[in-house]
Amino acid sequence: MPVITKRAAPGFVSPGFVSEDDLSTAIAAPLVVADVPPIGTSAGGPPNPARAAGVIVPDHVAIIMDGNGRWAKLRGLPRVAGHREGSRAVRRTVEAAIRSGVSWLTIYAFSSENWRRPAGEIMDLTGLLRRYLRSEVAELKQSGVRMRFIGDRGRFDSDIQGDLAAAERDTEANARLNLTIALSYGARAEIAAAARAALAAVHAGCLDAGALGEEAFASFLATAGMPDPDLIIRTSGEQRLSNFLLWQAAYAELVFLDVFWPDFDHTHFDAALKEFARRERRFGASKD
Ligand code: FPP
Repeated sequence: MPVITKRAAPGFVSPGFVSEDDLSTAIAAPLVVADVPPIGTSAGGPPNPARAAGVIVPDHVAIIMDGNGRWAKLRGLPRVAGHREGSRAVRRTVEAAIRSGVSWLTIYAFSSENWRRPAGEIMDLTGLLRRYLRSEVAELKQSGVRMRFIGDRGRFDSDIQGDLAAAERDTEANARLNLTIALSYGARAEIAAAARAALAAVHAGCLDAGALGEEAFASFLATAGMPDPDLIIRTSGEQRLSNFLLWQAAYAELVFLDVFWPDFDHTHFDAALKEFARRERRFGASKD
């Protein structure tokens, strides 16, 4: 995929960007042509035609969904309209991940810093979350999606906490797609909590401090048991991780898309996967 060399806003140039032209190419020649039933029609593990055809598909895609507010502002709409449209994009993205044979999808829906937003916007966001959990989980379950949540769920109202636990419980037998939603999540807080837990294990005599290597430490993180993300996508043109999966992102490929999250669809997902397939991952080793 060619990389963008210029962009509407002057001075905003990045080799990591995927241009609209790239997206049209992705539409014309989709990365993956999978005959997988749409969400709600079938459960079970999907075939992975892209992998079978030798195309490298990331096992774990993580997404920083950004640009809801700007999407709404451009249209003269309240921010909540962007968030509402953003939750429709979540649905499209889950479908795209299943269709592409991605096994793990992690989305950043609410950061620990988002609590600093005005009370009205927090009400809107938690209201959308409540609606999402009540309207989508049954269908996700039918589609073979396993749901998990990472972050400080204790800060949400107790009914939401109950819905989160129920969604995890109801979908725990599924394996077609592992969908993790980061809520009230911050990577530094996650790492600090893991350090406290590891220290407590040492003090309790369950862990030898000398044996606390990378793998052992990762087992104290909220993502224990999950593979690290291979690909992290951020929408809206911003290029930073914003306290998302900082430990886990060590070797992730980063793709920044010039699209606001509410407009994100399978063409953007496919374009990001195509860009990922082009990248050479060496994990610190040399080429030869
Ligand atoms: C970033 O846009 C987006 C968020 C802070 C929230 C993401 C929420 C959703 C996609 C909808 C709800 C999701 C679920 C799973 C129900 P922003 O508001 O920071 O946009 P801006 O940077 O343009 O202001």
